[in-house]
Amino acid sequence: MPRLHVTGGNPLGGTVKISGAKNAAVAIIPAALLTEAPVRIENLPDIQDIQALVEILQYLGVKVVWETPTTLFIDASTLSKWQAPYELVKKLRASYYLIGALLGRFGRAYVPVPGGCDLGPRPIDQHIKGFVAMGANVEVEHGLIKVVANKLMGTEIYLDVVSVGATINIMLAAVRASGKTIIENAAKEPEIVDVANFLNAMGAKIRGAGTDVIKITGVQELGSATHCVIPDRIEAGTYMIAAAATMGNVAIQGVIPKHLEPITAKLREMGMAVDVADDQLHVVGTSNAQPVDIKTFPYPGFPTDMQSLAMVLLTQATGSSVITENVFEGRFKHVDELKRMGARIKVEGRTAIIDGRTRLSGAPVKATDLRAGAAFIIAGLIAEGETVISEVDHIYRGYENVCEKLTALGAVIKQIG
Ligand code: EPZ
Repeated sequence: MPRLHVTGGNPLGGTVKISGAKNAAVAIIPAALLTEAPVRIENLPDIQDIQALVEILQYLGVKVVWETPTTLFIDASTLSKWQAPYELVKKLRASYYLIGALLGRFGRAYVPVPGGCDLGPRPIDQHIKGFVAMGANVEVEHGLIKVVANKLMGTEIYLDVVSVGATINIMLAAVRASGKTIIENAAKEPEIVDVANFLNAMGAKIRGAGTDVIKITGVQELGSATHCVIPDRIEAGTYMIAAAATMGNVAIQGVIPKHLEPITAKLREMGMAVDVADDQLHVVGTSNAQPVDIKTFPYPGFPTDMQSLAMVLLTQATGSSVITENVFEGRFKHVDELKRMGARIKVEGRTAIIDGRTRLSGAPVKATDLRAGAAFIIAGLIAEGETVISEVDHIYRGYENVCEKLTALGAVIKQIG
């Protein structure tokens, strides 16, 4: 099994270019199944989650061609199956978007319960509530979610929890339903807007994406479109934290600064310099980082996906900080691994108290999920000695060329095995 060896001590410096957003791309590719016309998706990240989705499309009978390393041509006119295979679906959480897409296209979807990061309980009851409200019958049998609708009907759906996945999945099914669907208490993440923009480019009628009320008027068919995926705000945030934690000086290019405001604000509160210009951010770290309190919330709150990364940075602050995880109740699995590197962190329920001024020391650690894996890389970059990260497949699921990008910034990191 490959491992990442990270040697600490070098401040990062230089420029890094951000790839396309994983969490938009993993919904946009299934969305392409809603049309019989060919589509072209640009700026896709070269990550394992996308490779897995492409394999699923091929299994379903879809014509898929990489025209460039980041541009995918998809022709779903030949889509012939509505059941996705367990071996591929288990690789990524976002395979649940196949349900909304296949349901919208065929009125039928059989998809195994999806895999993905273990962040504690991750129910999909709100997705199912939406499909049922639209007239579908849903059964879960032998690990397979079977969703069947004679006719999908637009309706009003109030989400009990603000869910990115449920918002997008219901939007996918509603695009070709009969009549108008209104999603209330919808999530507002930029990735949702990106998916809606792609669907609208194909001829869908979606209004309000990016607000908490999304209105979708169903259409009979969708056409062709070319769409460029937005930059990955979590990858950008990862390099912002890496620059800050190593007391480096890094320009992060190809971003939408507005999407990064919650992270920019926290870094500035800690005393880091963050300069914003057009599609670029420049982060300069400080040896006098102030402790701060962070509460994760759905967008535009501080992203839960940045929580483990921010925690590593806070071990270097000049006092104690508090992180409250409001989105996923089980998302502190990285804490025990960080403690093995010398971090002093106390968890009580959804709250973690992080002591500052900690000298981290390199240790063997296991990537417990995608973002935790990235957090351990940053911990390794500031630790004394060598950190060896196992189960790195989690990291490759979501970060394009992470070793190459960090090495170009002066990090000492290599994959062995
Ligand atoms: C998306 O997951 C992202 N994944 C996650 O990113 C991200 O952490 C999360 O949104 C929150 O921002 C993708 O986009 C593929 P949710 P998702 O539904 O959609 C509860 C990463 O590292 N909930 O917004 O699965 C749920 O348990 C990944 O890139 C229900 O109770 O998250 C959680 O507490 C990890 N019932 C909260 O809502 C449901 O039916 C938010 O989850 C759905 C969700």
